[in-house]
Amino acid sequence: MRVHPRAFTHVAHRALGVSYYAHNPRLLTHVMQNPLYKLAKLTSEHLKTTRYSKSIDFELSKSFSNDLDSVVDCILPEQTSDERQVRALSYAPIVLGKNVPGKLNELYNAARDAFGQVRWTEFYEEDPWSRSFLPLFANGEGIGPDGRLKHNEVILGLFILGPNTTYPEHAHPAEEFYIALTGNPEFSIGNNKFESQEAGAVVVHHTNISHAIRTSSEPFFAIYGWRGEIGEKSWYRNNMAEESEPKKYPTINK
Ligand SMILES: [Fe+2]
Repeated sequence: MRVHPRAFTHVAHRALGVSYYAHNPRLLTHVMQNPLYKLAKLTSEHLKTTRYSKSIDFELSKSFSNDLDSVVDCILPEQTSDERQVRALSYAPIVLGKNVPGKLNELYNAARDAFGQVRWTEFYEEDPWSRSFLPLFANGEGIGPDGRLKHNEVILGLFILGPNTTYPEHAHPAEEFYIALTGNPEFSIGNNKFESQEAGAVVVHHTNISHAIRTSSEPFFAIYGWRGEIGEKSWYRNNMAEESEPKKYPTINK
C-alpha cells in the first residue's frame, strides 16, 4: 500500500509538537475562516481529552477524533440548500444564551459560531412515531453528505431537543457521538434505564444499539457526529428488545 508522504509529515509534526498549520498556511487560513472547521477541530480535541463521561468508549471516541482531524486537513466543497421551517429553532435564544464555564467554554462558543452555518431540518417526516417530539426537534448538519460542507464519510452537526420531551428509542447502523453542551439530558442506551449526562459529557452509540434521549425543563443543545454506515436509515421497533419484531423505518426528510 502506498501512503501519501503528507501523512508522515502530519504524524511527525504532531509527535514533535510542531504546529502542522505553521507549515501549511493555506490550511490554517481555511480553518480560521469557516466556523465549521473550528468546530471540527475543537470537537476532535474534546473527544481525545475528555475523561468525565459515564458512557464513553475511548476507542470509538478516538476513531471519531481521527475522522475529524482528517476533515480539518481537507478543503471541503461548500453546498447550498433551501431554508426549511424548523420549529425547535425557537429554542435558539435559550441554548445560545448560556454561560458555560471552564474548559467547555471554547467548544460551546465554537458551536455558537457554527450555529448559522449548519443546515437545520426536522430530520424526520411527521408520522405517529415522530409526532410527539418533532416540533421540539432540530438537527443541523454542518459537515456531511447534506451539510454546508460536503463530506461523504463523516457527519458533524448540532442538535436541539426542546424541554420535557423524549426522542424515543431507535437505532442506526452508523456509529454516533453526542457532546452535551447545555440542558440536563438523560440518555438510555441498549434498553437500560435513563442516566443524566452533565455538560461536556461524551455519549457514544455503537452500531445498531438502541438509544433514547429525554429532557426535563431545559432544552438540550449538543454537538453530534456520525461515522461508518452514514447512508443507512435509522430504525425502531415498538419493543426494541424484541428481536423477532420487524424493524420499522421512519421517513427521513433532511
Ligand atoms: Fe442516534
